[in-house]
Amino acid sequence: MPASTAALRVDIDRLIGRLAALAEIGAIEGTEGCARLALTDEDKAGRDLVVTWMRDLGMDVVIDGIGNVIATLAGTIDGPPVMCGSHIDTVRTGGRYDGNLGVLAGLEVIETVQAAGITPYRPLAVAFFTDEEGARFAPDMLGSLVYVGGMPLEEALDIEGIDGVRVGEELERIDYAGAAPVPGRAPHAFVELHVEQGPVLEAEGITIGAVESVQGISWQELTITGQSNHAGTTPIAMRRDPGLVAARVIAFARELADRVGHPQVATVGALALAPNLVNVVPASATLTVDLRNTDEDVLQKAEAELAAFVAETAAAEGCTVESRTLARFEPVIFAPAVVDRVERTAASLGHSVRRMPSGAGHDAQMLARVCPTAMVFTPSKDGLSHNPAEYTSPADLEAGANVLLHVMLTLASGDGDDQGNADG
Ligand code: GLV
Ligand code: MN
Ligand code: MN
Repeated sequence: MPASTAALRVDIDRLIGRLAALAEIGAIEGTEGCARLALTDEDKAGRDLVVTWMRDLGMDVVIDGIGNVIATLAGTIDGPPVMCGSHIDTVRTGGRYDGNLGVLAGLEVIETVQAAGITPYRPLAVAFFTDEEGARFAPDMLGSLVYVGGMPLEEALDIEGIDGVRVGEELERIDYAGAAPVPGRAPHAFVELHVEQGPVLEAEGITIGAVESVQGISWQELTITGQSNHAGTTPIAMRRDPGLVAARVIAFARELADRVGHPQVATVGALALAPNLVNVVPASATLTVDLRNTDEDVLQKAEAELAAFVAETAAAEGCTVESRTLARFEPVIFAPAVVDRVERTAASLGHSVRRMPSGAGHDAQMLARVCPTAMVFTPSKDGLSHNPAEYTSPADLEAGANVLLHVMLTLASGDGDDQGNADG
């Protein structure tokens, strides 16, 4: 790290204060967690608060057509910024750190640099991207996908949510359909600080993860249709029960993951029977399947096995199946030089560090398409996330934010020890 900035450290109390203030919006009573599904009133209130903080820091705030918010602090040169960021939308049972940490630690980086009276050589930017979670509007990482040109804006605005409303309508309603064009300008480099959301760092007693890759993600929705009928009068042999098919698919997904072995995971996280009544054989079952693996070939084989099982099991029960892809992203490898930079920075600050893949999806995997990118992980207590009980200790938050600070300062220094995109 540049000698003149080596002693800089974030203010952990200020960071924790902002995390707590943001978590009050959509707070889930009796827990530390929050519910701010993308583009809801709660998301809008969270956005407004973070934008206020950005403006209070004197940053130049820009909102693009998919509602991504990018705040920039000017550098000595007017080139592409070194960007950090993440998301502030949450799942309905969210913790206060997932996504929010990467954004608010970014503001902490800016405030620390400003307090030291430093003007970085390159501009520094802090972004929050729309609908990272994908819990309301699939796919996940929607805003960052559009930012890097991976989906046309019109297609993204037309996506229908789980409640039947469209992305474009909701962006207009909450006043975040911005004027800045997408795809956005490629940053010089991108770094995302995030909680691990898994058990590895805690189990190994390590403070910092230098994230090398993100596993591939396959989400689909299956709609199985059978024959709704009377629960008392319809003999078992005459049933066409989509509920039974769904149950068998759920069990198969687990068997498949067990058989393929780590790191294959398989999750049925949403299931709806219709008409969902005690004495009615269901007419239909709708369920989601989330499959992930670090190896694209293995992931494709798992998808094919699942598809064959679903078709066979539905046919045996006299049911039909429709399947819809909700999200499909191949595994991503981050820029080795930026991963090295994260690892070396953590070590130079005195923290234990290991390289690791990410099990969760992140905006960084989209930014990696357009600029050198890596991530910094901090431990998650009991490996819990997408759960209001998600927790990372203040000491670990501080360590992660300081690693982010110094990785960004180095990338922004233009001193030849910099691993970003060439200028131009
Ligand atoms: C996003 O948080 C995902 O990995 O599901
Ligand atoms: Mn996240
Ligand atoms: Mn999440």
